[in-house]
Amino acid sequence: MPVDGSDVEVGLMATRLAAREIAALDPYNFMAVIGKRVIHPGGRASTESLLHRAQITDATRVLDVGCGVATTAVEIAKRYGAQVTAVDISPVMLERALANARAADVAQLVTVDHGDILNLGYDDDAFDVVIAEAVTMFVDRARATKELARVTRPGGRVLATEFFWREPPTAAAREIFLGQVCPGLQFDTVEDWVRIHEGAGLSGLETETGPFEMMTPKGFLGDEGFARGLGIMGRVAARPAHIRKMAWLMPRMAKAVPYLGYIVVAGTKPG
Ligand SMILES: C[S@@+](CC[C@H](N)C(=O)[O-])C[C@H]1O[C@@H](n2cnc3c(N)ncnc32)[C@H](O)[C@@H]1O
Repeated sequence: MPVDGSDVEVGLMATRLAAREIAALDPYNFMAVIGKRVIHPGGRASTESLLHRAQITDATRVLDVGCGVATTAVEIAKRYGAQVTAVDISPVMLERALANARAADVAQLVTVDHGDILNLGYDDDAFDVVIAEAVTMFVDRARATKELARVTRPGGRVLATEFFWREPPTAAAREIFLGQVCPGLQFDTVEDWVRIHEGAGLSGLETETGPFEMMTPKGFLGDEGFARGLGIMGRVAARPAHIRKMAWLMPRMAKAVPYLGYIVVAGTKPG
């Protein structure tokens, strides 16, 4: 269902969140609240890799599932002039996605929808290119990947970015990341992701991997730039609830970072 900003739930989320709501946010919604635009493990580099493989033109029908604040959807609309449907399950993300599409003056190309990757409200074969950056691993991965393939037309492309373990993690690092920082998140090795995408019927699979640098100073500044980076730090400093959240998050992330990497997986739905 398209979101137009008059939606009651989305409208409520535009109000300032209470401290207890900030404390309860998952790390990704928190990143959105403090104004971060790039919220997936490979940062802008993995998005570039993904777009390079997607072969988008102004005639391509693109679906961005778990769009977050619509950074990639906006980039696709601006760069290629393509129609993009940006769908997410989170009201916080949808509100910011809509605002970002409007601020970038591409609201006529980017449709923001509420939806669930496990049960997308689109017909079979409806899109030429389907993108999911750091979404599938939050749910039943095999089922979600099949759903991405279902809404892709024969000959169309499915492209995803996810976490994988670059090094076998210590038991403590695994528990901190999957048990405390991102409860319920599921991922494993490159081979595991390839198997899931093959299981969804995708062929010609290509992968690319790299380190997880989103939360390092280099990755943060590379993704957000100096001015936005300063703005994000200012928003963190402006509220004790934000500072407390960061103080909880950062040391835990630091324990898992050495073992984490990003993978880009791209496949084609057979014709
Ligand atoms: C790590 S963030 C990635 C956001 C965005 N793709 C990006 O790269 O910036 C994960 C996103 O997936 C969304 N999400 C989680 N579960 C979902 C589901 N079942 N269906 C749709 N979106 C979901 C979250 O709300 C969040 O926006």
